[in-house]
Amino acid sequence: MSEKSEKTPVAEVETTGHRWDGIEELNTPLPRWWLWTFYATIFWGLVYVVAYPAVPFKESSSKGFLGWSTRANLAKELKHQTKKYAHLDQILITTDLGKLLNDRELVQYALARGSSVFISHCSQCHGAGAGGAFGYPNLLDDDWLWGGSIENIAYTINHGIRNTTDPDSQISEMPAFDQTLKHDEIVTLAQYVISLAKLENAGEKTPENELFLENCSGCHSENATGDETLGAPDLTDAIWLYGSDIVSVKKTISSGRYGVMPAWGQRLSPADLRSVSVYVHGLGGGE
Ligand code: HEC
Ligand code: HEC
Repeated sequence: MSEKSEKTPVAEVETTGHRWDGIEELNTPLPRWWLWTFYATIFWGLVYVVAYPAVPFKESSSKGFLGWSTRANLAKELKHQTKKYAHLDQILITTDLGKLLNDRELVQYALARGSSVFISHCSQCHGAGAGGAFGYPNLLDDDWLWGGSIENIAYTINHGIRNTTDPDSQISEMPAFDQTLKHDEIVTLAQYVISLAKLENAGEKTPENELFLENCSGCHSENATGDETLGAPDLTDAIWLYGSDIVSVKKTISSGRYGVMPAWGQRLSPADLRSVSVYVHGLGGGE
């Protein structure tokens, strides 16, 4: 193996002087276009590093002289959108709730906005499709604990239910009857209430009915159809917040129930509150 480079007779290209078993290594220069591309990428890399956030530090990164940042861009975009819809927001929060529903453009806007508010703030309890769960009411049906008019819905969302943060929160209680009623009376009432939902003996004069009138009708009303001013559920329909089987109903009567819903009045903007109220009202059950 000789260290001195020599020309090969065939290709007229310098060899590196390396040769193994008769195979020579040619010293072919890199194609010019390749080389320039390579230099260009190095140059681009350097420019990028100084122009954009690139070098990681402990807490943040280098800023880059263009001042570009995803966060700043988002803030800018949000500001732009807020400005773009500011006039609609203004109408949305100043229009009378009842009249609002007659304005198609406004309702469209409120529904779009309200659905994203719902997904971020309400779906964890009421379900993404608003179908509810045990203890969390279904908002799709026309069965309302606290009333299904747009005004009622907006009030419930603003002030919440049985929370300790808003003094105007909807308040009531399903008391525990384990101290005031005997066990067999609770069983009788549970069976009676379940039968009401099946529309077997609503309103009939029976001993069970007497027991109901004595203990329960004050809130659930005499014919057991509930009272929306107290959030007392209609017990004659087939919709149950806390289960319709005998064990669940017995537990409701003996231990009571106390469903809590947060107040959103202080957490959401007025436009978000209105939008989500319109959205919930529009889910199907609004009155
Ligand atoms: C932490 C759980 C939770 C979250 C989050 C929540 N809710 Fe509720 N919501 C409840 C509970 C529990 C009730 C039923 C309270 C009761 O038993 O009366 C309720 C009741 C309601 C009612 C009354 C239903 C009726 O039949 O009268 C409406 C309307 C409502 N929620 C809307 C919303 C909206 C809109 C949001 C989001 C901005 C939301 N909720 C977020 C738990 C929640
Ligand atoms: C002081 C008012 C009050 C009285 C009296 C009362 N309830 Fe209730 N009841 C309520 C309220 C309010 C709720 C809803 C609780 C909640 O949403 O967390 C409720 C809920 C219920 C439920 C659950 C319904 C469902 O959809 O799951 C049943 C069942 C029930 N009550 C039966 C009775 C029976 C039986 C009596 C009589 C022994 C009675 N209640 C007396 C206020 C009352």
